[in-house]
Amino acid sequence: MPVITGRKSFGSDNHTGAHPEVIQAIAAANVGDAHPYGADEWTARAAGDLCDAFGAAGAFFVFNGSAANVLGVSLLLRPFEAVICADSSHLNVDECGATERILGNKLLTVATPDGKLTTELVATRLTGRGDEHRAQPRVVEIAQVTELGTCYSLDELRRLSELCRAEGLYLYVDGARLANAAANLDCELAELAASADILSFGGTKNGAVAAEAVIVMRDELLTDVSYLRKQQMQLGSKMRFLAAQFSALLEDKLWLRSAQHANAMAARLGAGLSGLPGVTVRYPVQSNAVFAVLNKERITALQRDWTFYTWDEDEGVVRWMTAFDTSEDDVDAFVEAIRASGEVGIASQAV
Ligand SMILES: Cc1ncc(COP(=O)(O)O)c(C=O)c1O
Repeated sequence: MPVITGRKSFGSDNHTGAHPEVIQAIAAANVGDAHPYGADEWTARAAGDLCDAFGAAGAFFVFNGSAANVLGVSLLLRPFEAVICADSSHLNVDECGATERILGNKLLTVATPDGKLTTELVATRLTGRGDEHRAQPRVVEIAQVTELGTCYSLDELRRLSELCRAEGLYLYVDGARLANAAANLDCELAELAASADILSFGGTKNGAVAAEAVIVMRDELLTDVSYLRKQQMQLGSKMRFLAAQFSALLEDKLWLRSAQHANAMAARLGAGLSGLPGVTVRYPVQSNAVFAVLNKERITALQRDWTFYTWDEDEGVVRWMTAFDTSEDDVDAFVEAIRASGEVGIASQAV
């Protein structure tokens, strides 16, 4: 696949390069020798700062978001236990069955209208508890933001957390885009984390390179983490380069400024679409993603010049994503192309 040149990609926030301040931080950490496997000053500083920001007991760096999810849930599960998650979740759809393959735990999936689990939806999967023939639900997994770009409110998180505590379940949060959720809700990371037992904090989609963090909220969940991270091949020997990236993201809340910008560009895109004939926004725009429905000729015409994914071929749903480096001009040019593709669509209908 060639490098995407010219027009800005609206495919994903991981089509974007690294934030220049992150690259500077990697270069600055490239001084002399350091102890490996996280026994270095960069790791101590970044992990400590993350714990402060989240009110957490521990922070552990890994290389990607799928690994963060597998490690996170592995800390909460025994072999016969199961994870309740949305059927649209990244864990279920886009991790090549990693949880099932690597951990051997079952996923109990639930259909949702908007990617979000509710207490009622979780309750539908709490059957068979105490029955030795059934995998036992133990973890509720949600993504904040969801795969469909939607955000849980703090109240929704609190309700899920209360259900989990009442039912003896753990709440794991896939935070690949947690920064975008904090920007959307205008809240602190600690407020998002308060409902969770373990969560991930995505660096990659926020301007880092192969750096994600697993945030463990309580001391008693820390016991196995270093062993499981090593077994799952996520213990980086030159850890300082992952840690330095998180320090760069935390410095003057770069993570938040980048997420606010990405969200603002998605909001601009969403607003630009309103009133365009033949384009319907599918879900509320609550992060850096816009899902829209339009006819297939228009999608094909647009994809000749622009990079983005078709989310649902049958229903004509596309996903358009913005990132920390998407500009207003990028968005305006894309909106204009979407508008013009309507004329292509009208012309092709007339033929
Ligand atoms: C919600 C969500 N979780 C996790 C991930 C992590 O994926 P990766 O393993 O590609 O870093 C992604 C990436 O697209 C995601 O969208």
